Amino acid sequence: MSLFNDVEKVLISETELKERIAALAAEMNAIYTDDDLPVLICILKGAFMFLADLTRHLTFRHELDFMEISSYGRGTTSTGAVRILLDLAKDVQGRNVVIVEDIVDTGNTLTYILRNFAARNPASVRVATLLSKPSRRQIEVPVDFIGFEVPDEFVIGYGLDFAEQYRNLPFIGVLKPEVYQRS
Ligand code: PRP
Repeated sequence: MSLFNDVEKVLISETELKERIAALAAEMNAIYTDDDLPVLICILKGAFMFLADLTRHLTFRHELDFMEISSYGRGTTSTGAVRILLDLAKDVQGRNVVIVEDIVDTGNTLTYILRNFAARNPASVRVATLLSKPSRRQIEVPVDFIGFEVPDEFVIGYGLDFAEQYRNLPFIGVLKPEVYQRS
């Protein structure tokens, strides 16, 4: 059966994503200059598609780097424990950093990331996230650029997965409950 059949509904269409990401990039273009030479840090794996579209709309000089983070025990048994699976290639000391996330849910992962970056002594740190689920927040965490606020539903697509699948969907969708209930 096609993976599209596992989608209950489209929450954010391709067109809506495209327009909102262009608007987020415009906000960033109004803040950063070539002299700032920020480093955009893509938090893998979920943010890869957002980063790829965002970076193409940015008009200031910037660099990219990647970091893979795994969060454990999310959901009702969330422990907030986070681990770095792949670290940055760059030294960000004295640099202007923009953390690029796909979603801020409980806020545990981003809190960990921000603490971790503070120890690397960057010149500045801002956060861009495509999605935010404020109703799930356990820790207040500062976010500078938010694409969309989403309700507490199982969102997939445009980089976001269920069991490592569905990341390739070109929209943000809601997964049919029977798909995650049967696994
Ligand atoms: C997701 C997402 C964030 C985190 C948000 O990552 O990319 O990093 O969860 O959740 P939180 O606010 O409750 O901490 P995930 O661990 O699913 O990894 P992935 O990006 O590789 O899919």
